[in-house]
Amino acid sequence: MTTNAAVLEARNLSRTLDQPGGPKSLLRNIGFRLDQGQVLAVLGPSGAGKSTLLRMLNRLDEPSSGAVLLQGADTREMDPRNLRRRVGMVMQQAYLFPGAAAANVRYGPAQHGIILNDSQVADLIQQVGMAGYQDRDVATLSGGEAQRISIARALANQPEVLLLDEPTSALDDVSKQEIERLLATLVRERNMTCVWVTHDVAQARRVSDLVLKLEAGQAVGFGTSQELLHA
Ligand SMILES: Nc1ncnc2c1ncn2[C@@H]1O[C@H](COP(=O)(O)OP(=O)(O)OP(=O)(O)O)[C@@H](O)[C@H]1O
Ligand SMILES: [Mg+2]
Repeated sequence: MTTNAAVLEARNLSRTLDQPGGPKSLLRNIGFRLDQGQVLAVLGPSGAGKSTLLRMLNRLDEPSSGAVLLQGADTREMDPRNLRRRVGMVMQQAYLFPGAAAANVRYGPAQHGIILNDSQVADLIQQVGMAGYQDRDVATLSGGEAQRISIARALANQPEVLLLDEPTSALDDVSKQEIERLLATLVRERNMTCVWVTHDVAQARRVSDLVLKLEAGQAVGFGTSQELLHA
């Protein structure tokens, strides 16, 4: 690890799919650098390539060209599972396995040989505002509650970077506000580096330091949220 490396850097990322009718460009020449604790909002209309970009940052998708660096190291050289522990993800729909909340929280660390004890699990569940829900079957949770447990699940891995793919857009207005506030607080308290995909300009203004605007796979704006959203 070099001291002046960005926590997360995307260099000239492109993704093109070969299709019967000819290649389809999903994303072209996207780049950014994030230092520790910076939150980048990725804004853009449906189909702009926001999820595609996010998925290349933890190798759920591979770029056709360009590179992603984590603490200065090329992610192509890393074991994808290890990368995904370091670069956690929370999606629009809570991503949970059938069973108890506690089992969901334990899952990620267990994959890497770390067994969380009861008090560690209780602590994580408490941090997302769900104190006492360890034994609840996740099938019985509301959308907002399930999203909280999926956040606890991501935090359990102590990720260096958190990727959020429209984490509030499937929720009702009240849960939307609560989950946004929870995530913003957790990210700030832990000084986590974060890429936060959203459709919502007002949300981006509230939570981000930097903004990347995507349209049809291209960057049409990049800068501080001060410059781009508060003008
Ligand atoms: N595996 C795939 N095969 C073909 N096209 C794909 C594939 N994955 C993504 N695309 C296309 O790439 C484009 C970008 O998709 P992406 O999911 O990244 O958009 P998005 O900005 O996240 O949209 P939304 O706001 O609706 O989530 C879309 O046109 C989509 O249809
Ligand atoms: Mg998407």
